[in-house]
Amino acid sequence: MCGIVGYIGNKKAEPILLNGLSRLEYRGYDSAGIATIENTAIKTIKNKGRVAELASMPNIDKLNGTIGIGHTRWATHGRPSSENSHPHMDNSNKFAVVHNGIIENYADLRDFLKSHNYFFLSETDTEVIPNLIHFHYINSKFEGEKRFLKAVIDTCKMLKGSFALEIICSDFPDNMVVVRKDSPLVIGKGKDECYISSDIPAILSFTKDFYLLNNFEYAYISRNNIKFFENDLKEFNKEINNITWDAGAAEKDGYPDFMLKEINEQPKSIRETIGSRISLNKPTVLDEIDLDKKYLSSINKICIVACGTAMHAGLAGKYIFEAICEIPAEVEAASEFRYRNPIINEKTLCIFITQSGETADTIAALNLAKSKGAKTIAISNVIGSSITREADYTLYTHAGPEIAVASTKAYTSQIVLLAILAINFAEKLGINSEKIAELKDDILKLPSQIEEVLKDTSKIKEFANKIYKEKDVFYIGRGIDYTVALEGSLKLKEISYVHSEAYPSGELKHGAIALIENGVTLVSILTNRLLVEKSISNIQEVVTRGAKTFIVTNQDFDNKFDVIIRVPKTNTLIAPVLSVIPLQLLAYYISKEKGLDVDKPRNLAKSVTVE
Ligand code: AGP
Ligand code: GLU
Repeated sequence: MCGIVGYIGNKKAEPILLNGLSRLEYRGYDSAGIATIENTAIKTIKNKGRVAELASMPNIDKLNGTIGIGHTRWATHGRPSSENSHPHMDNSNKFAVVHNGIIENYADLRDFLKSHNYFFLSETDTEVIPNLIHFHYINSKFEGEKRFLKAVIDTCKMLKGSFALEIICSDFPDNMVVVRKDSPLVIGKGKDECYISSDIPAILSFTKDFYLLNNFEYAYISRNNIKFFENDLKEFNKEINNITWDAGAAEKDGYPDFMLKEINEQPKSIRETIGSRISLNKPTVLDEIDLDKKYLSSINKICIVACGTAMHAGLAGKYIFEAICEIPAEVEAASEFRYRNPIINEKTLCIFITQSGETADTIAALNLAKSKGAKTIAISNVIGSSITREADYTLYTHAGPEIAVASTKAYTSQIVLLAILAINFAEKLGINSEKIAELKDDILKLPSQIEEVLKDTSKIKEFANKIYKEKDVFYIGRGIDYTVALEGSLKLKEISYVHSEAYPSGELKHGAIALIENGVTLVSILTNRLLVEKSISNIQEVVTRGAKTFIVTNQDFDNKFDVIIRVPKTNTLIAPVLSVIPLQLLAYYISKEKGLDVDKPRNLAKSVTVE
């Protein structure tokens, strides 16, 4: 589920592959490897550990081939080790394969191959693939390129699960076959060269022209030509997409880490999300969505489905839709939604939020909703990502590439986009016009208000320095502030490995308060004027029991707590966009104090393309 790169052209492939792999590092991985073809022999070098370790392996720079495949592995079957690293080869060393994803029926396929005298050198599910290709290849009635291609097609037909594959064959030193199913893969086209990757930013510095492969589309790639085939060997034409992101956007721009860069980019990313979608005194412009008043009046509920941080944005969305559109809204984790029988039908509008657009659970949930007749909207940050090809409608957040594993700017953009969508619906339904005018005004002020929040972060840094050795941190909030508490707590867990929990403020006394003792840290978010007094009482209950407090608020009250971070006043419905920023920074500074790898936290991957 981590990363794939590939190159075919006239330059030496090895440095290009290593460069591409290092750009994919942010996705999280445990081993890496590359293979090239030289004089009709495949040469492979792979290892457990970082791309930098692979790059310093003896003789790696002696790989002189101009065609090659590369992989970062996030182990699903078999521990991280040199044998289990990719590329994997068939028993006769004719084919080399890199694979992202999971082959669910690999045990049956191993048995099948063993019955034909194949043997295995690794514990991976992947190793069945090169051997199956070999099996079909030697039993083929086809000749030439069709023989290579058909062997791959016949193999893919036997695979259950998810895969993005690059395959090279020593009989075809000038060609590569690539295909995907439910795992991302794109092909970049240069002049007399092609770049392949699971991720556009990794190869954006080489080309801006991309083919976005759909499930079961096979590309037969030569240096100056790409042919596309379907499962039945029928050739078809594919449209090329020009990507307008600039390559520099995927670099660190002088920041020590991507996460800090992305936190600081939020004024800009929110400006991009707003774009020309809202302006005062004019209806919102969301040309991508043509849902009319008749349809909107007919829907009985909105279901928001997502994972992790995107789900937390969805939770804020629930408050926004209910307040602005007066339509009931539910939020559910995609991994739960897809395995129950949710009560949805053609009167349900389902919104799927995913930064990457590649999260397997979210895509599966969308397909389930479609099969039940619901209309589907995808909110994604990645142009042309898988979910955008499945949904009825897509809205892009336009936050720019998000590289750090911990999501920051995508989250705030998702909330702003949900608010714009809710406003669009309310305008069509003709409700709440006064509230809407105020909300629009407040949304337009957000970018400069974020700049204000980011101006002085010294208090946050100081507090991080004080508490970074703590074992437990509690986050509380009421109403929409509770959704921010959940997000703040997730950020802390992800990048600082500090145990933390988030509770609705009023819920703490129903159990978890038993855990509060001298020295525990309490983070509280407080942005709703109507709930100030009640929330302060809740904080007080914890302070009395010895907790240190870090409060993020836009309300005025006596400063009797340890640290109070004031954020600008705004409409409560979009307050998370401002109040989350001190929490993102708190997690960031704690992680830095602990000397951890902020951008690539342990065990996590940027996009979770397996179940
Ligand atoms: C965010 O910090 C996490 N890394 C994770 O929860 C993430 O939000 C989740 O995996 C969903 O990803 P997506 O938005 O790409 O679908
Ligand atoms: N399932 C394969 C393995 O464990 C591929 C994992 C990946 O996507 O990196 O080797």
